[in-house]
Amino acid sequence: MALKGKVTVVGSGFYGSTTALRLAEYNIFETVVLTDIVEGKPEGLALDMNQSRAIEGFETKIIGATTTAEGAGYEATANSDVVVITAGLPRKPGMSRMDLIGVNAGIVRGVAENIAKHSPRAVIIVVSNPLDEMTALAQIATGFPKNQVMGQAGMLDTARFTNFVAEKVGVPVGSVKTLTLGSHGETMVPVPSRCTVDGKPLSEILSETEIADLVDRTRNGGAEVVALLKTGSAYYAPSAAAARMAKAVIEDSGAVMPVCAWVDGQYGIEGVYLGVEAEIGKSGVRKVVESALTASEVDALKVAAEAVRAKQADVKEL
Ligand code: LAC
Repeated sequence: MALKGKVTVVGSGFYGSTTALRLAEYNIFETVVLTDIVEGKPEGLALDMNQSRAIEGFETKIIGATTTAEGAGYEATANSDVVVITAGLPRKPGMSRMDLIGVNAGIVRGVAENIAKHSPRAVIIVVSNPLDEMTALAQIATGFPKNQVMGQAGMLDTARFTNFVAEKVGVPVGSVKTLTLGSHGETMVPVPSRCTVDGKPLSEILSETEIADLVDRTRNGGAEVVALLKTGSAYYAPSAAAARMAKAVIEDSGAVMPVCAWVDGQYGIEGVYLGVEAEIGKSGVRKVVESALTASEVDALKVAAEAVRAKQADVKEL
């Protein structure tokens, strides 16, 4: 298949560089651009990744570009089809994602403005934390249509939930289906009613307490990794999630994934970026997909919506 399209990954930390490599190894994009404000880092990583092409057998070219907050270096990102924004600081042990809001808002705003100048048609996938708020901010800063900007969280949280269920029940991850909606934080909404093992409802396999423990572990999934790593946060599962979203965009696949998308009316929730299932294509979010949830799950989603709405109003001023 001919390679096509250009994806930019902003930020060459572990999250960004792993995402860039995953995208390159798909061997579907013509170009992957990796940027950072640390001079030489993206160029060095790109050189190293390109040298792996002969072994791994992919033709996608990786380009590294040092950028500045003032916008130098962004020419390399021009006319990207997809941009993954990983820029910003990760959590330290004991921190909540919300503790990053002040510092990361400044970084994400600057990046989003520079990206918008050079790639006006790009679909933006935000992964910087706090996720729901940074996604809202990227939309404001780019001025892009709301469906053209989304955030990565639900794919990751769902993958964590699936992994925990598979380990607990002792089955392959491929036998398990789970779902998480809501915020990528305190008000995450794991949806047990949509969880199955080999097609059987999870509630027939595990007790209520066992399910509640897995839900809790999922909600704290990021913090558990941060506490172990001590410096930095998770990146293998997060990058896998972000890369799959970018793939769905470039392939215009229509895949339905849990993502942070603009919700306006679905589930009776008005005008807020929130974790929901959405159909992804080359325009970004084609549509939010409403599914059958229990009344208490819908209530939890509404609580999440109000919690993130209040914070998303704050980011306008940051
Ligand atoms: C996590 C961070 C990336 O959940 O938000 O691991």
